[in-house]
Parts: sequence; structure tokens; C-alpha cells
Amino acid sequence: MPPCPATDVPGAAGVQVIDHPLVQHKLTLMRERSTPTGPFRRLLREITQLLAYEVTRDLALARRRIDTPMEPMEAPVLDGKKLALVSILRAGNGMLDGALELIPSARVGFVGLYRDPQTLQPVQYYSKLPEDLSERVVILLDPMLATGNSTAAAVDLLKQAGARRIRFLRLLATPEGLARLQGAHPDVPITTASVDRGLDAKGYILPGLGDAGDRMFGTR
Ligand code: URA
Repeated sequence: MPPCPATDVPGAAGVQVIDHPLVQHKLTLMRERSTPTGPFRRLLREITQLLAYEVTRDLALARRRIDTPMEPMEAPVLDGKKLALVSILRAGNGMLDGALELIPSARVGFVGLYRDPQTLQPVQYYSKLPEDLSERVVILLDPMLATGNSTAAAVDLLKQAGARRIRFLRLLATPEGLARLQGAHPDVPITTASVDRGLDAKGYILPGLGDAGDRMFGTR
């Protein structure tokens, strides 16, 4: 059984766990330590698409007049400005391709944060964001919600840049990370494939899948 099969985490409003069998099966393959880099990347791209499908489920629609080969009709199209996808470097990039395949016209931003290994606190080293963030739904991409410190800092940055409608897409989360993020940003809903047991002394997720960046890029 996955660590948290429920679709809603008790006490964690705004957290949605996608317990779809395809998501859970692919996640198990990703967790397995013997899964090599290539399949790991492909699985992350596939799961991202399944999660992105859920995180975009309530996007607003408008009507557009089109002509089918048979007759004119008022057809539904996404309303408002294009979405923005923001990847938290570097692991977020592993989710970007999958999300872009689903939402090809999205604008794309990047936030560079690393975790100080001593303090586990985030340090920002890069930021490049689309304009008009205030008018776009922003989907923040990063597979691992561990302590929540980097994530909360990334959301701070997006809000300073004007973003008002932020959603978070994760592969794995921890109860600690969810509590930290929801304490700082209760307005940001989180969609994840699993809520794992917790963290080890170095801030790695247990049972987790190891270092997501290293596994997707073949580094150590
Ligand atoms: N980042 C990772 O890549 N893995 C963890 O377990 C925690 C943070």
C-alpha cells in the first residue's frame, strides 16, 4: 500500500493526494533504488502529466465561436491569460517537460534555491519569472516537499513578484513540509502523489526515493 492512499489528508486543508492506480504504480517504480536514470525521468514526466490533469481540473472556461466542418458552435476554451509554470531548480525541471506537453502555451519561470546542508534553510541564487504573474494561474513545480522551507521561500518570491493564484504540484510530501507550507501560505493548494512518513536527520524524505535531482540527472 502507498504510505498515504487517502485523497484528502486529515487536518491538511488544501492538500490533494492523487491515489489513481497509474500514479501509485509509477511512483513505486520511481522509489525502487534499482530504477535507472532514463526510466526514472520518463516516469516523472508521466506522473507529472497525470497530476497536472488533476491540478488544472477547475480552470475557468470561456466560450469561443468556431466552425466545425459541419456547423458553427460555441465551444469551451481556457479563459484568461495563459498559465505560468515555475520550476524550482533543479529537480523541478524534471516535471517541466511533462507539464509543458499538457499545457504547451504556458509561460515558464525558474527559481533557483539550494538548501544549506547545515541549517537546512533555503538560499536563493536565481530567479527569472514571466511578466503579469498577477493575471496568471501559477503552477509551481518541485517533486519533493521535504522540510517545506525552500517551498515557502519560493512562494514568498512568487508573491513578491505579484502572483496571487498559486498551486503546487509535488510528487512526494511530508507532514512536516505540509504543516510548514500551509502555516506560511494557507492559500496555496497542494497536489501530490503521496504524503510520506517523515524526514531523516539530513532532511531527506522517508521512505521517499532518495535525491530526486541526482536520480533524474545521474549525478551524485
Ligand atoms: N530533496 C530530495 O531530492 N529528496 C529528499 O528526500 C528531500 C529533498
